[in-house]
Amino acid sequence: MLPNQNPTETAAWQRLEALFLHMQATHMREMFAEDPGRFEKFHVQFNDILVDYSKNIINEEVMKELIALAKEVELQDAIDALFRGEAINQTEGRSVLHIALRNRSNAPILAEGIDVMPDVNAVLNQMKTFSSNLINGTWKGYSGKAITDIVNIGIGGSDLGPYMVTEALRPYWKNITPHFVSNVDGTHIAEIVKRVNPETTVFIIASKTFTTQETMTNAESARAWFLEKTGGKGEVAKHFVAVSTNQKEVTKFGIAPENMFVFWDWVGGRYSLWSSIGLSIACTIGFENFEKLLSGAHAVDNHFRNEPFEKNIPVVLALLGIWYNNFFGAASEAILPYDQYLHRFAAYFQQGNMESNGKSVDRNGEPVTYQTGPVIWGEPGTNGQHAFYQLIHQGTKLIPCDFIAPAISHNPLSDHHDKLLSNYFAQTEALMRGKTQEEVEAELAKAGLDKEAIKFHAPFRVFEGNRPSNSILFKKLTPETLGSLIAIYEHKIFAQGIIWNIFSFDQWGVELGKVLAKKILPELTAAEEISSHDSSTNGLINYFKRLKSE
Ligand code: F6P
Repeated sequence: MLPNQNPTETAAWQRLEALFLHMQATHMREMFAEDPGRFEKFHVQFNDILVDYSKNIINEEVMKELIALAKEVELQDAIDALFRGEAINQTEGRSVLHIALRNRSNAPILAEGIDVMPDVNAVLNQMKTFSSNLINGTWKGYSGKAITDIVNIGIGGSDLGPYMVTEALRPYWKNITPHFVSNVDGTHIAEIVKRVNPETTVFIIASKTFTTQETMTNAESARAWFLEKTGGKGEVAKHFVAVSTNQKEVTKFGIAPENMFVFWDWVGGRYSLWSSIGLSIACTIGFENFEKLLSGAHAVDNHFRNEPFEKNIPVVLALLGIWYNNFFGAASEAILPYDQYLHRFAAYFQQGNMESNGKSVDRNGEPVTYQTGPVIWGEPGTNGQHAFYQLIHQGTKLIPCDFIAPAISHNPLSDHHDKLLSNYFAQTEALMRGKTQEEVEAELAKAGLDKEAIKFHAPFRVFEGNRPSNSILFKKLTPETLGSLIAIYEHKIFAQGIIWNIFSFDQWGVELGKVLAKKILPELTAAEEISSHDSSTNGLINYFKRLKSE
């Protein structure tokens, strides 16, 4: 059972409120000028991953109180309950054991009293055999040719993780090209099948429930396409495999049990890339690299479980997020990777964060009286700089940012990487320092502007600064490092959910839309005018039907 404490009723929260009033009036520029040891004080390192959080509107007292808050809500007990395999997903009555999927120590982890590791290892072995056979050409298609392409059909957690990771680890690709189909929009599958040959393609139907409308519709269309293209000669068994917790539905679809890779209800969809949902990852980068991804995450699991909060990266990041979300009123957080390979990282954690912590009822079932999960968004630098950074620098909203970069590029082309990294360093400095009125005026005077012109132009060029950021810098984007980075962000979400006293591992909020869509679907082909909804929905459906039939 998780601890249950309204965070706003803790003594630490009250002290943080008082501290906020003071900190609101301070500027990081001055704090840096006054304290040359600020970087030393406010950075944490884990292996080669350095997290510099000194460019935040904090001082030692703020950090002390944030940590006191974590202690007061008994975060350590919650972490221990997670790792002990307790059924902390109380609204669904399940353990939360993505940590078992990457438990490289192989020490027993119990779910409802039973060690899950033998099952985890058995599926890992099955994945190893399958991915190796695909890569070395032992697995043949119906016409005897080796496989060249895989198409992962899944959505949400059954798509975003594998897609993000395969993109991030492109330098490790072997000889199998992965493709991803998620949207029920027929355009998605139609465009993907144009790129593949049915003789040399394996479809991986990835769905925890195997009932998700989008995935099952795409899976059926893929099978119909395959049978049509192969003139009925294609053997589904050689070209379709399933990843699911639902054996009955997989069998119903016509996939043989030996081509099914199971996982378990204690794996949340958005935490499932470590399970057989990662099959497309293993087939793309090879099983040894998949294992390295797991090892990187496992190392962070140990760090999260054992490190004191002061040096615990996920906890520190979680607390900083709470500082801005709940005290400064920041509504969003940006994740800004300075690595093109991480171009889906923010999108991945959009689901991770927003499906986990987008909740407004606390663990007592009462409406919360404080803010919970922020909006997560972001794009790779430097593209973002030429798109939305204007608002981060000079807009009216406070947007805490995470800047993520490797020191060494996989593509060391001339001075590209130094140019990229000079921007990475410059942005956080600019956000922190800003540019004062005096500095702007001096600059304009130097450029030869007269007094009147300076007066007019200066206000637009002043940067207030004091805009917070974390800088995450590591050596190179390897499978281990990526595994560690993902686990850091996963545990940050967990720690925040505990502090906000919400349940992070259900997602009831996606149900209503699904139910209504099911009700509306037959109405779209019904002959009569629709009048069963509100006037807006009726009007839209009827207009759609008119357009369609004209
Ligand atoms: O969006 C809701 C959700 O349940 C996600 O949590 C999940 O990742 C996704 O749908 C896909 O579900 P499934 O893997 O069961 O198809």
